[in-house]
Formats: sequence, structure tokens, C-alpha cells
Amino acid sequence: MKEKTQGSPRTHGAASEFVGSKSPDRVFIFDTTLRDGEQSPGFHLDANSKLRIARQLEKLGVDVIEAGFPISSPGDFESCRRIAREIRGATVTALARAVKDDIDAVWAAIKEAETPQIHIVLSVSDVHIERKLGMTREQVLKQGAEMVAYARSLCDRVQYSPEDAGRADPDYLVETVETMIAAGATVINIPDTTGYCLPYEFGEIVRRSIEQARGSENAMFSVHCHNDLGLAVANTLAALAAGARRVECTINGIGERAGNTSLEEIVMLLNVRQAKLGLECGVDTKEITRASRLVAELTGNSVQPNKAVVGANAFAHASGIHQDGVLKDRLNYEIMKPEDVGLTDSRIVLTARSGRHAFHHRLGRLGITLAGEKADVAWQRFLQVADTKKEVTDEDLRKIAAAASEPNGEKTNGSETNGHETNGHPPVTDQLHDHNHVADTLRHLIFG
Ligand code: KIV
Ligand code: ZN
Repeated sequence: MKEKTQGSPRTHGAASEFVGSKSPDRVFIFDTTLRDGEQSPGFHLDANSKLRIARQLEKLGVDVIEAGFPISSPGDFESCRRIAREIRGATVTALARAVKDDIDAVWAAIKEAETPQIHIVLSVSDVHIERKLGMTREQVLKQGAEMVAYARSLCDRVQYSPEDAGRADPDYLVETVETMIAAGATVINIPDTTGYCLPYEFGEIVRRSIEQARGSENAMFSVHCHNDLGLAVANTLAALAAGARRVECTINGIGERAGNTSLEEIVMLLNVRQAKLGLECGVDTKEITRASRLVAELTGNSVQPNKAVVGANAFAHASGIHQDGVLKDRLNYEIMKPEDVGLTDSRIVLTARSGRHAFHHRLGRLGITLAGEKADVAWQRFLQVADTKKEVTDEDLRKIAAAASEPNGEKTNGSETNGHETNGHPPVTDQLHDHNHVADTLRHLIFG
């Protein structure tokens, strides 16, 4: 679905208006992994890497790809040009400050896109206007409007971002929004540049801009949130409740400082809570894991294990209580299916906190069934091994099962040693036996 302008703006500010909505509203996903994400320290991408990520974003089905900041370097100009030439289906945009040279560079880089858009940024907060730009509010309005009009003379789609809107005087922000729409901006993107706003404050800023700026029905309203206080996704959701219909986000939440709204989190939020929110987007969620891994690989920055949706632990169950629940019915502990984000399955991780149910489940997946005394011997050996390492692997399980199947439970050659050298001493697992037997008994009583 191609983006349209806003139509009649919504006139509400609370999340409750989502409830009971019959036909879901479309939210447009603007990905800025290649611009805001790539501009953060240690995340540099060369032209080939950017193109590979852009192809994956195309597969993911995002609506807009921000390819870069063409004036910043010849390499980035070229990356933007290659992306604009190749990508189909998504709008391709790139960033310009509100000066002609930047806008010309953007246009030269993206004009061959199927649907090009020029993105202009100029500050709106007094902090920035006085301390960064050294200008007056009037000068900023004039320069912004002139540059929007200039960009519109080149391109049908022009997005204006009043930078640091989250800390700006709300009346001046409204004046800015209506001035830029009158000058020809087709998209107004309200940024919480410093990640300062609380969700209800940010929602109110967006609601006021949509309600009070004359001509707002002629523009699409978008938001761009930073995660300095961990509120980027919450603020984005508040903005959607206030009537914004485009969200800027990045894969793995990368971006300046603490990053931007994470694409996978906002998309899965819309997806998992669709019945409540009444909103939908066009992203193919099954491509999320592939996109996350590609960005991690090409930027050289891995994702924190407990990151929502794409972290290694997002679908891993480690404690006996949770494993038992998930093995009985995934609904007990999973609010989304791993398959929906492109994973094959959840992970049952065997640790010292695991229970017998998970232990036998994992043995079963290796084709091993143990019963009676052998099962008890194997379980005791498992607990000994588990207490000495972070995770018990399939290889460990095979050795544990083999040892338990030996006459008198003797170890086979190469029986489990956790990969630690024994240096002539008894294996770590044996050394730990006495210390662990109280804990083992307790664990047995608790987890079965
Ligand atoms: O954080 C910000 O304000 C930006 C703008 C360019 C939208 O990145
Ligand atoms: Zn930003």
C-alpha cells in the first residue's frame, strides 16, 4: 500500500481510542537503520553492506528506507544512489540540513528511486536555536520554509523534521508545522531527538500538532524517538495513539547514543496487540530475525541476549518451572510464536535451574530415552555437570546418557568433563558431588 497523506487527522490523545476499532488503521514503517543507525559510533557500513541491508529491508516490506546523508561523504552519496537505483516498492529518502547544497546532494543521490523523498531537518527547540544555530525563531521559520519550497520544486515528497521537538515550545512547534505544510511539506516528522519526553507528554505534543496546525490534514504525521531513557517504543506508541501514522525506527534499535525506536519491537507490538490497538503495518515479520542478524553481522555489533524479539534469549526458556510450562503448552510463557519472527523454534536451554521435564525433552530430541534407574543416574550426572557450566550442550547430554547406560553407571571413555582439563585431578563434576548433594535434593523436590 502506498502512503497517502493523513486524511482527516484524529482528534484524540489517549490509547483508549484504539479499543474496539473494527478496521485496522495502517501504520507506515520508515526504517532509518542506514542513516541514524549507521551514524552511531562503531556502526559504520560500506556501500556494499548498505545495499545488502537495503535489500533485506525491501524483503521485510518497510514503507520507507532512509539510505543515508549524501552530503556527508562521497561514499555515502554513492551508497544512497545505488540503493535508490535498485530498491523497488519502498520510498527511498535521504537526509539534508535546511541548506541548498545538502538538498541538491540528496536529490542527485535519490532522484532515480521509484518513489523518492527529500528529508529536511532543522531545529525547533530554543536550546538548539540559540546554542547550536545562533539564530532567532523567525530566521529558522524563514529558512525552513524556503528550503521546503526549494525541495518541493525538485521532488513531490518532502519530509520536514523540526529537530528536538520534544523539548520545544509547543506553540512554536505548531507554528513551525503549519508554516512547513504551507511551504509544501508532505510529511511532518516530530522527533524526540534527545529521548527526553514521557509517553503522555510526547503523545500530547503530537496530538496538538495534528489538531492545531492549520493544513495538518494535508500532511502525513510521523515520529522519530530516541531511547535515552528507554522510552522510544513507548513514546512511539503514544504518538500513534495521538494520531501519527508513520514511525521511524531501526533494526536492533541502533542509532545515536542509546539508539532509536526498535523496528522489531514496534512491529511486533502492533502485531501481537493488534486486537487491542486496531493498527497494522505491512512488514513481513518472518523476515525480522534475518534482518536483525544481517545488521549485527555487517555492523560487527551483536544484539544483547535479553533484547526483546531478537535477543538470543527472547524465545529461550531456562528455568525448570518455565520449561515445564512451555513444554505443556507454549501459551503458558510465550506471547508470540518464534516462527512469526522467522525462528524455527523456541529454545529449551539446559542449565542448573532446569528440571527433569526439560532434560528428558532434550534427550528425546537426540533420540535418547532413559527410564528407571538409568534415568535417575543420568539426572544426577546432569545436575553435577550443570552446576559447573552456563549451559549443558547436546554433546554433554550424549556423554551423560552414555555414562548412565554403562554397567554400574561407569563413565565411558571421554565421559563428560565439561571441556575443562582435569590435570590428573578427579573431574570437576566428581569434586563437586558432595557440595552439591543438598542442592540436588532440593532441586529434585522443587522441579521434579
Ligand atoms: O534525532 C533526530 O532529530 C533526527 C532527525 C534527523 C529526524 O535524527
Ligand atoms: Zn535521530
